Amino acid sequence: MDYKENILELVGHTPLVKLNRLTQGIKATVLAKMESLNPGYSVKDRIGRAMIEAAEREGSLKPGGTIIEATSGNTGIGLALTAAVKGYRCIFVMTDKASIEKVRYLKALGADVVVVPASAKPGTPDHYVSTAQRIARETPNSFYPNQYAHPANPEAHYRTTGPEIWEQTEGRITHFVAGIGTGGTISGTGRFLKEQNANIRIIGADPYGSVFKTYKETGKTHEVTPYLVEGIGQEVIPENAQLKYVDEIINITDRESFEMSRQLGRVEGIFCGGSTGTNLAAALKVARTLDANGLVVFIVCDTGEHYLSKHHSDEWLKEKRLLEPQRITAELISTTKGATAPHALVTAAPTDRVADILARMDELGISYVPVLEEGRSVGSLRENHVLTKVLRKRELLEAPVSEVMDASFPVVEEDASAADVTRQLQAAPAVLVQTYGRITGIITRHDVLDMPTR
Ligand SMILES: Cc1ncc(COP(=O)(O)O)c(C=O)c1O
Repeated sequence: MDYKENILELVGHTPLVKLNRLTQGIKATVLAKMESLNPGYSVKDRIGRAMIEAAEREGSLKPGGTIIEATSGNTGIGLALTAAVKGYRCIFVMTDKASIEKVRYLKALGADVVVVPASAKPGTPDHYVSTAQRIARETPNSFYPNQYAHPANPEAHYRTTGPEIWEQTEGRITHFVAGIGTGGTISGTGRFLKEQNANIRIIGADPYGSVFKTYKETGKTHEVTPYLVEGIGQEVIPENAQLKYVDEIINITDRESFEMSRQLGRVEGIFCGGSTGTNLAAALKVARTLDANGLVVFIVCDTGEHYLSKHHSDEWLKEKRLLEPQRITAELISTTKGATAPHALVTAAPTDRVADILARMDELGISYVPVLEEGRSVGSLRENHVLTKVLRKRELLEAPVSEVMDASFPVVEEDASAADVTRQLQAAPAVLVQTYGRITGIITRHDVLDMPTR
């Protein structure tokens, strides 16, 4: 029979996948190390398993014990699935920057999750690390792995990730690119690869705002500025970030990280998180400088599934002012109008009673209503015009909408550009958005004022 003893046997041994389209014009080979194919869909499954098994060997984790960790999510998932197999309880402390998908995922694996503000500074009681430490102190028979300092973290990559890449590339790898969160991946893999061939360049990909690049280059840290990519970058240097194994650190913006993450899905079919975008951006920058002997391996840290409500959502990118203006479409504007706008499109039929529609408009605080017949726009109601007509002739309140309506608002396709929408709004107070022949949204002049201009 062919089966695994348990899910943990699927951790590691992830394949390398060559990029073909994103690398056009690049002579070097660029390979993605598919850590998103681990059973918990991230590189952190390796250390979740390794830290728990090290603690069992050392006796710091005993049967019936509770595992408590500060995590941006993925380490929690790696720990939780190991704990599930081995019968331990888990409590995770996360910041409110972590996506809701990750919180729910951890709960689905049986863990308890405590969420604290991302704004809390290191060392303060609300910081996610201090909170995890406090809960660990207060919980009997608990184990606090501390991925930032636990030697089993870089060790797991030294024993597994490094040797896998070395064997898979038959020793031909020339550059390794990874993000730095705890530093475990880059330090452990980097150390192994350097021991095989000291000429292999180990490159860290770091968000602008994080301290690693400055620290590597000057030995000093600086005040961090906030960034949105999850799981990588730091404000203090963790023990597991052994930067002596790192040759160079490249800073990448949020905008570039998210754009590259989305492109990897669109262009190569590899669905990934934001930190993978950071790595990919750095990998391509490096690869562009190499000849055909260059062989760059970068880490695909986790799956895009965890970020469907974040950078894989146009709405979220627009809210964070990270969407290219030319990618703001009529559909996006109409679905991301101010939080107070009613989301379902309010429409009238030509046969509706004027008084009923006016009452509805008053109740919802809307001034423009399209009049639709079989899904097509046949007219429009503009509150001020209708009220003027009704004031002159009160009987119109009982009349059908068709007697008071104006000409239809202009109609644009859902993929019309923001510029097209703006142009139409110079002549009409509202435009309608059409999706495959059906009217699905309305945009007014106010909605367009809310749009980011860059
Ligand atoms: C999404 C994601 N990417 C990358 C990393 C970085 O890996 P490491 O902690 O090994 O430096 C992490 C770690 O927290 C992560 O959660």
